[in-house]
Amino acid sequence: MDTAFLDPSKLDEAAEFLKNGEVVAFPTETVYGLGADATNDEAVKKIFRAKGRPSDNPLIIHISSLDQLEQYVETVPAVARTVISHFWPGPCTLVLKKKGPIAASVTGGLETIGVRMPDHPVALELIEKAGVPLAAPSANSSGKPSPTTASHVKRDLDGKIRAIVDGGATGVGLESTVLDLTDPKKPTILRPGGVTFEELEAVLGRVWLDTHLSDQSAAPKSPGMKYKHYSPEKPVWVLPDTLEAAANLIAELERDGEKAGLLASSEWLEQLETSRRTCCSLGEKSKPQQAAARLFSSLRELDDEEVSIILVEPYEKKGIGTAYMNRLEKAASRIL
Ligand code: TXA
Ligand code: MG
Repeated sequence: MDTAFLDPSKLDEAAEFLKNGEVVAFPTETVYGLGADATNDEAVKKIFRAKGRPSDNPLIIHISSLDQLEQYVETVPAVARTVISHFWPGPCTLVLKKKGPIAASVTGGLETIGVRMPDHPVALELIEKAGVPLAAPSANSSGKPSPTTASHVKRDLDGKIRAIVDGGATGVGLESTVLDLTDPKKPTILRPGGVTFEELEAVLGRVWLDTHLSDQSAAPKSPGMKYKHYSPEKPVWVLPDTLEAAANLIAELERDGEKAGLLASSEWLEQLETSRRTCCSLGEKSKPQQAAARLFSSLRELDDEEVSIILVEPYEKKGIGTAYMNRLEKAASRIL
């Protein structure tokens, strides 16, 4: 199939493809999504085929108005209204009891549905023009780092999907937070993301974490969290959290003949010998949102370089650092 590359002035064309049951990649504020009409089962199945995604991993539906929310979920509890008033449009997906004509393959047999309103003008306009909610996972091949530019999408899916809308680089760089509100008394984060635990707690009082986020042996409630994810071809290791230990490890690996690609804060890179090494900066250590925005694209970048191993600096697990570390640890074959 020929994949069309469209700029955001061509959204009528992109919407037409979607109405005809085709699959179109589009930008959101988090990462690029691979969208299809969420009410058309055949169209949704094309997403799974293009990505090579396991069919038991449900998709998020993307909406552009609160009317659509009422159409596709049984009830909107007060706790959901609070989250929506603070964080929508934005990177927070709500899991609620589903209703209405959502295609069976969107939810993989679950009674619940994940729904969010993306904070991106192109995404919102495209959903509006298509006239239906769009089921959309991240627009990468299953297992690869999520795409933050249209060229990442092209790299993974060219020839497998109908079109890619190029809206430039995404802002947040990591996916949305998935918040389970099926028990309104116990709002539970299933996947950390763009809206932080601390931000949610500030408006909800108390927020729970799905047990698998702290206990690796527990089964995750969000089906997608059980898969290995976000990985480039090269092995990824998470470095120790002090510069001295990290520098020692890098030297040891290089003595063993490894060619290290380093992904680290500007402060660490100033202290490491960057001139003879392949490096990518995560920005200043005090700005973890920059690290979050750069993680996936840098993993792809280093994967394309002549390195044998990718070594990444850990950040503190608080604020957006929690989502950064969650994705990094899933990408990594080894955590030191
Ligand atoms: O930022 C994002 O969320 C991006 C953009 C494109 O919106 N989308 C995204 O989709 O990350 P995906 O498919 O890569 O991840 C969706 C996650 C998976 O972990 C999935 O298991 C979970 O959301 N999920 C979806 N529906 C669910 C449900 N009903 N119950 C529990 N988890 C659900
Ligand atoms: Mg994904």
